[in-house]
Amino acid sequence: MDVDSAPPARRDKGKGKAPDAPEHGGLVGSLTAAQSDALPWVEKYRPSQLDELISHADIISTINRFIDENRLPHLLLYGPPGTGKTSTILACARKLYGDKFRSMILELNASDDRGIDVVREQIKSFASTRKLSGFKLIILDEADAMTQVAQNALRRVIEQYTKNVRFCLICNYVGKIIPALQSRCTRFRFAPLQESQISDRLNYIVATEGVNLTESGRAALLRLSGGDMRRALNILQAVHAGYDEANEANIYACTGAPMPADVDQMIAWLFNLDFTSALKSLKMLKNEKGLALVDLLTELTAAISSMDMPRASRIFLLDKLAEIEYNISSGANEDIQLAATTAAFRLSVDIAEKASQSNAA
Ligand SMILES: Nc1ncnc2c1ncn2[C@@H]1O[C@H](COP(=O)(O)OP(=O)(O)O)[C@@H](O)[C@H]1O
Ligand SMILES: [Mg+2]
Repeated sequence: MDVDSAPPARRDKGKGKAPDAPEHGGLVGSLTAAQSDALPWVEKYRPSQLDELISHADIISTINRFIDENRLPHLLLYGPPGTGKTSTILACARKLYGDKFRSMILELNASDDRGIDVVREQIKSFASTRKLSGFKLIILDEADAMTQVAQNALRRVIEQYTKNVRFCLICNYVGKIIPALQSRCTRFRFAPLQESQISDRLNYIVATEGVNLTESGRAALLRLSGGDMRRALNILQAVHAGYDEANEANIYACTGAPMPADVDQMIAWLFNLDFTSALKSLKMLKNEKGLALVDLLTELTAAISSMDMPRASRIFLLDKLAEIEYNISSGANEDIQLAATTAAFRLSVDIAEKASQSNAA
């Protein structure tokens, strides 16, 4: 399952209740209970006020100060997904314009056509209708998907309309934004959220929705989220929809990621069994658990990087696994690549043996 997409609609088990206080509910404040129940949790629990955002205290206080002193610059928010970039700027808009903020902002993202004409026309027509006092806000989400030509055109538009419009560019990779645009904006980097911070926020959601989250489930959820709150919420909602208990096994089953115990077992086979038996056992476990080889490679690579083994073997293995991952991404046959993975491990054992023999000699 692709956990970054919206999770399946939750079967109504009568467990969830609409959050009573809009202060935690993001959009919920203006929706009926039934409407908010149907929302994906990432929307239902999107922070609506700046001070509800977890982490990024420095960024929030700086932006708060800008707004209070009425000198908001053009902004460039960047960092990995699910760290609160979009939520931050929407909360800013709400602070600036109150609940009617929708009419004061123009929000464009990569799913919209973002050629040079869009930059010129759509942005210009919004930017050129003047507001009596203050400024309007144009939010360009996923700005790193804009073409260079469009970014260059935007540079002029920004200069032209600075009087009554502020721009907020949002992206994952700041390197893809042309320097001329970067220098016109105040940059803020959103780091991945810390596990403890995600955990605190989860507590509230788990309690409100009545999720039966076990301790092992929480640890698995935090680990799989990788600092991405959106991912954590999507996994949690999916597992709550499909299972009565959100424990480690159910969470891994829901995401399709290999369980740590299975990864350990596979590593033991790969290092200790002969080629044929290792491949056979691996194939069986992989089919039984419905695992994808790419996910396995990610886990194997992480394990190898921290394992105690001769340098030459480690280098050999990492190089091979990288090659196999590349092959899979270009559409190679999974069975053949699984055999290649097993072969790489067997060869790395040979290399280790040779190394220890030459050391002993
Ligand atoms: N710092 C945060 N504090 C609280 N919730 C967050 C935070 N970052 C992300 N989230 C949660 O994850 C969801 C996605 O966040 P979003 O702001 O869209 O991330 P981004 O734009 O950085 O990809 C939000 O709806 C919210 O529920
Ligand atoms: Mg976003």
